[in-house]
Amino acid sequence: MRTNFAGLALAVGMGLIIILLGVGTLSMAGLVSIMPAEFYEAEEQQPADEGPVIPRDRVSVASTYIPASTAEAAAIISGDALFKANCAQCHAVYQQVVGPKLADIDKRRPMPWIVSWVQNSAKVIASGDEYGVKLYNENGKQQMPSFGLSRKEIEDIIAWIKVQPESAPAIHIEAVAAN
Ligand code: HEC
Repeated sequence: MRTNFAGLALAVGMGLIIILLGVGTLSMAGLVSIMPAEFYEAEEQQPADEGPVIPRDRVSVASTYIPASTAEAAAIISGDALFKANCAQCHAVYQQVVGPKLADIDKRRPMPWIVSWVQNSAKVIASGDEYGVKLYNENGKQQMPSFGLSRKEIEDIIAWIKVQPESAPAIHIEAVAAN
């Protein structure tokens, strides 16, 4: 009886070890759960490998305007930087500053005119361009500087102007970049 009891205890012990090993292996393979739920949730919150993590306060404006393509997003990002570096000292989108407000400029003037104007407004005025001469006179004959910007760069500035909302802060470019 004594040997039988010891044999039984050994068999049960071995059985338990095998079961534990089995559950452990399945658990590692993700097939059964022996971890508390919070542990999984914490794991899921880790950022997926999908590019940079954008702080929440930078994301809000993405709902204001969502570019139709990556190319458009890139144009707006570039236009934002170019506008701030070259134009913002004299222009705003919705207010007259030194120069006129630039909202709807793409509806007032064709793109080739805008490009010529930004590259060399004096030349446009000197050519006798009716709109340009009138604008120049109406603005106290203040000469806008010439900019060595490419057609693409000027188009980017216009792309940025076009998506500026009137009653909200300027679109956060970081949000656009995230898409
Ligand atoms: C130093 C001031 C100054 C800067 C900088 C400046 N502008 Fe101007 N801009 C003017 C003035 C003044 C006018 C009005 C026309 C004039 O007096 O020649 C004007 C007119 C314009 C117009 C025509 C507006 C209309 O209503 O038809 C456009 C377009 C324009 N600017 C674009 C730009 C862009 C784009 C930049 C930046 C790359 C820029 N400007 C930088 C002063 C400036």
